Amino acid sequence: MTRTSTRKIPVALGDRSYEVMVGSGLLARSGQLLADHFGRARVAVVTDENVAAHHLGTVIESLGDRCRGSIVLPPGEQTKSFARLDELCDRLLALGVERGDVIVALGGGVIGDLTGFAAAILRRGVRFVQIPTSLLAQVDSSVGGKTGINTAHGKNLVGAFHQPALVLADIDTLATLPARQMRAGYAEVVKYGLLGDLAFFERLEQGWRPVFGNDPAAIAAAVETSVAAKAAVVARDETEQGDRMLLNLGHTFGHALEAWAGYSDRLLHGEAVAIGMAQAFRFSEAEGLCAPGMAERVARHLADVGLPTVIADISGADRPAVATLLALMAQDKKVRDGQMTFILLRGIGQSFVSRDVTPDAVEKFLQRELKLPASGNRERQARR
Ligand code: GLY
Repeated sequence: MTRTSTRKIPVALGDRSYEVMVGSGLLARSGQLLADHFGRARVAVVTDENVAAHHLGTVIESLGDRCRGSIVLPPGEQTKSFARLDELCDRLLALGVERGDVIVALGGGVIGDLTGFAAAILRRGVRFVQIPTSLLAQVDSSVGGKTGINTAHGKNLVGAFHQPALVLADIDTLATLPARQMRAGYAEVVKYGLLGDLAFFERLEQGWRPVFGNDPAAIAAAVETSVAAKAAVVARDETEQGDRMLLNLGHTFGHALEAWAGYSDRLLHGEAVAIGMAQAFRFSEAEGLCAPGMAERVARHLADVGLPTVIADISGADRPAVATLLALMAQDKKVRDGQMTFILLRGIGQSFVSRDVTPDAVEKFLQRELKLPASGNRERQARR
């Protein structure tokens, strides 16, 4: 995958503003790019075993003698734990990381969230750079400064807002991404169209195939539009007091399903968001908020790319009880005074925050959802 031009998207946050660079060949230029931004600051790199096998050598070589060393952690959600945070801080200090240094998070959302949190607390705050290597991390988790770890009570319940000082989204890294991970990341791309940009959703509807066909122009356009949308929201509402909640479209339903599935391979985060977004549209339609047919249109596009859209699409024979899902939704970080927050829709591209949804309406909706048949996309996917 080659593409010569690099687009710089600003995240405007006053004296904590930074750029997201989207382009090709950025890993191989990371040494120069970090020198341009941080002068002679020394660098420590954190990554996981899978990403290290593909990309760590390129970054280390490019950083040259400004690199203090690298830390390679096990892949997977389990790594976002207090134990690994403790280990990571200890190993960063053992590498001699100082307050003026830069810590690089090279990897997907797990590495970005954990490393960002370590950077937030190490020596009371060290600058960090996100080099996201998954589509999901490039379009969502690497931008906006949410960092943290999971606890026994749920995902991301301990963390901090700590903005990166630079994000390098190298679209070449997506060539090594498994197809399922690519689809899961694509759900977050679609999210930006659904929550606020009908024209973008329509472009995706018409032109999604090249995104999955290693077409650099199509991939760069999808990443750039997504990052620009996220940057605009984060600049308006860094700490999620209002508009930033819209980025959680599909997440209230989706998180509950993800938790029920045990954050396992059964249901990736992006897959849960895909089901959750389809559900947000079906719920909005059922409540008379958006015109009939919208939910079907959205689900059709998600299913076309091979994403699940209903609970019955989740692998395995067991299904969640409605009471279980309701209890899991009550754990949502957006719950205020016991009232659940939902991101609902008046149409494609017209999302809004609602605190008026009654538990009774959600319960009846989930009862109907559990009766919906599988969308059949898994069979279609298997034939590809
Ligand atoms: N992933 C949602 C946010 O960053 O606010």
